[in-house]
Amino acid sequence: MSLNDGQRDLLGEGGFETLCAHYAEHRLMHGGAVAPPLYQTSTFVFPDAEAFERRDLPQNPYFQYSRKANPTTRTLEAKLAKLERGNWARAFSSGMGAITCAINALTEAGTHVVAVANAYHPTRRYLEEYLKRFNISVTFVSGTRTEDFIAAMRDDTRVLYLESPTTGYFEVLDVPGLSAAARERGVRTVFDNSWASPYFQQPLEHGCDIVVHSATKYISGHSDVVAGMVVGRDAELGERIAREGELLGASIDPFAAWLLLRGIRTLSVRMERHQENGLAVARLLAEDERVAVVHHPGLDGVEQHELAARQMSGYASLFSFALKDQSREATHRFLDRLKLFGIGVSWGGFESLAIGGLLFNRDDTRGQWLIRLSVGLETRDDLVADVRQALEG
Ligand SMILES: Cc1ncc(COP(=O)(O)O)c(C=O)c1O
Repeated sequence: MSLNDGQRDLLGEGGFETLCAHYAEHRLMHGGAVAPPLYQTSTFVFPDAEAFERRDLPQNPYFQYSRKANPTTRTLEAKLAKLERGNWARAFSSGMGAITCAINALTEAGTHVVAVANAYHPTRRYLEEYLKRFNISVTFVSGTRTEDFIAAMRDDTRVLYLESPTTGYFEVLDVPGLSAAARERGVRTVFDNSWASPYFQQPLEHGCDIVVHSATKYISGHSDVVAGMVVGRDAELGERIAREGELLGASIDPFAAWLLLRGIRTLSVRMERHQENGLAVARLLAEDERVAVVHHPGLDGVEQHELAARQMSGYASLFSFALKDQSREATHRFLDRLKLFGIGVSWGGFESLAIGGLLFNRDDTRGQWLIRLSVGLETRDDLVADVRQALEG
């Protein structure tokens, strides 16, 4: 049986890279095309009126409308579900589309959410400002102590919302411990795995119920798509997410899904190189006397490095650091001297990016001027030389 055979795809054999290359692709159904077809269509037609009447039955073989489902998107969803060790996945038009849909599907008026304080800012704003309108309250927990998260859970808590490493300071949480504590209390854990990607971390294996992604980052890897994913195991939850996703309408465009499928082919090799380049730059900074602190969970000697190594098989290349000279001018000077790093938001792409600011989260009282680097896939020596010369300025 050849790898092109759809039956082989369905078996889901092989390691991570093999799954990236072949899983859920039905090549012989498409003239043997190695790249999956792009179904760039909004709607689909039925062979007759009876088939149309049966469109919502589970055995209906026809697609209806691309906000609901699309063959290209289905291939992406099947592949990502497999890579995250889930049973289903749903693709969205942005990470925020995925995150808000997952939270909405798990909450209702009068319920409560516990969330990590250093979450991605728009996620935090959604939890803090938007959910209030629906009488859903949120407790934010600063720091990494599992007991603080447990203490924040109440009888009406429905969701524990986590990121690890966290946004800004890249702190690592005890994911298996937290998700087990939540499960005991009937609370569902939603985990943003954009940083590690499924290549370095699989939160469903650590007991989380739902994984969300900004697929805009490493999954895409080429800074040409904005997209999101929700992945899980529980079938009823999967149906709820699909229903809410269809109503809220943040569905992915088929071309964006096709670009993500292309990005996934090289996810493992990109992540390996991101890890090497990121650690090389982080080590240079950690050894430099002008640097006060480097927040990178992969550095030896960094608090929580052991915990990080236990639950992740490697490290992405987004991290932050603070200069000893805590003036706005010194931070701006460093950023402005960089030549290979563009000054810009987002991360996880092939290109290196940098931003700087006083605080990454208002709960944090450290008040540091932090610089965040997203280390790309350029030649490692060039990246290290660029950061060195920027420090020298
Ligand atoms: C950790 C994290 N989660 C989610 C998002 C949101 O994703 P998107 O921009 O694709 O909506 C981002 C975006 O930067 C992020 O950094």
